[in-house]
Amino acid sequence: MSSSTIDYATKIPNNVNLNEDKTLQRALEHWQPEFLNWWQDMGPDGSHDHDVYLRTATSVDSAGWAQFGHVKMPEYRWGIFLNPAIADKKVGFGENIGADAWQEVPGEHRANLRRIIVTQGDTEPASVEQQRHLGLTAPSQYDLRNLFQINVEEGRHLWAMVYLLHRYFGRDGREEAEALLHRNSGDQDNPRILGAFNEKTPDWLAFYMFTYFTDRDGKFQLSALTESAFDPLARTTKFMLTEEAHHMFVGESGISRVINRTSQVMNELKTDDPQKIRAAGVVDLGTIQRYLNFHYSVTIDLFGADESSNAAIFYNSGLKGRYEETKRDDDHRLQGQTYKVLAVDNGRLIEREVPMLNALNEVLRDDYIKDSIGGVNRWNKVIEKAGLPHRLVVPHKAFNRKIGSLSNAKVSPDGQVVGEAEFASREREWLPSAEDRAFVASLMGRVTEPGRFAGWIAPPPLGINKQPVDFEYVRFN
Ligand SMILES: [Fe+2]
Ligand SMILES: [Fe+2]
Repeated sequence: MSSSTIDYATKIPNNVNLNEDKTLQRALEHWQPEFLNWWQDMGPDGSHDHDVYLRTATSVDSAGWAQFGHVKMPEYRWGIFLNPAIADKKVGFGENIGADAWQEVPGEHRANLRRIIVTQGDTEPASVEQQRHLGLTAPSQYDLRNLFQINVEEGRHLWAMVYLLHRYFGRDGREEAEALLHRNSGDQDNPRILGAFNEKTPDWLAFYMFTYFTDRDGKFQLSALTESAFDPLARTTKFMLTEEAHHMFVGESGISRVINRTSQVMNELKTDDPQKIRAAGVVDLGTIQRYLNFHYSVTIDLFGADESSNAAIFYNSGLKGRYEETKRDDDHRLQGQTYKVLAVDNGRLIEREVPMLNALNEVLRDDYIKDSIGGVNRWNKVIEKAGLPHRLVVPHKAFNRKIGSLSNAKVSPDGQVVGEAEFASREREWLPSAEDRAFVASLMGRVTEPGRFAGWIAPPPLGINKQPVDFEYVRFN
């Protein structure tokens, strides 16, 4: 593709003056067709002829960031946006607190910053890959549209990280940008960087759980990066957060609608027998709980080891702050402070005090946990309103962990340390079994008529962007 065929002001909406930076323009000219090839091969299966009612960001102000209209999927305009610069921005934490924020990458932090950006960037296309077959079994046009909205925005988040790599990291940045398209979710030889992004998202219950729990991990990671002393990273991630909110909404409202429909059927049949509930074509609450246990535990692993010297280095040097760093009224240096982390001692869970700087992964994980419990309580309200006594619960933090000091422990969802044998014998009660997954898969079927919904999920109370629920969100062509 020659430069004359790309009008950067329109083809790649941006607020970084793309057309004035020839080096960057050349780098993106090389990368863009590779991105489109990746989208064609690994993006939403069978979507390439659809016109979808999508939100596109064309600027960062309130008028421009959410332009709605039908768009042919591969022609989506993936833009590059940074939140406006704050004059005289200072570093807000760590040993450089009070110094000027960095507009270029300091040599001594280059490798760590690149690693942080690549790790964040890797999750974005990974989730598109994980979700690529879901369009074939969408329970409604409304849901199909939401899936595609999330997919194109994760694509835009990849662009956001690739912009930073190209603009600030030279040749090794360009190489990393290419590698982001070559790793693939679940690939044996070249997998995505983080575990949860190599898991399958095989059905819509998994999709809603993923967008509720795992996109929320995105919210917390991005929030920590909005505090970064590297100002372009802070401004980029700030804008990404505006899009993340919708992803979590799709998850929370999706699960809420599944629960709503299940509760309705339980009341109609006056039963809580999972077999009868399943026979009526809805997901029993036990299966929902097991999916929740799985997605929650896999997602909290994403915050990393509970004690980490890297976390201390990232904080001390100003690369990555805490969630809402600037709203906290401590010294933002944390030297000499401690934090409690869990460990197993003599068959019991105990708390250990460790230096807070080394426990910042755990601090972020605990903030995440508080935030994610909110939606679970709202799901319980749906069950309560239906007059049913059942409740969903978030499993214990130590349950099913694969990373950190708890990875060697076997802990039940209610926080009891159990033996290997007990865990194995009760795993079917606690995590989705192959049979659970097969049952959920059996409910999945494509519903394409506007305003119609699959039998296992209630319609949403409202459409997208004030459109009616039976709006033609997707023209299949
Ligand atoms: Fe994202
Ligand atoms: Fe997201």
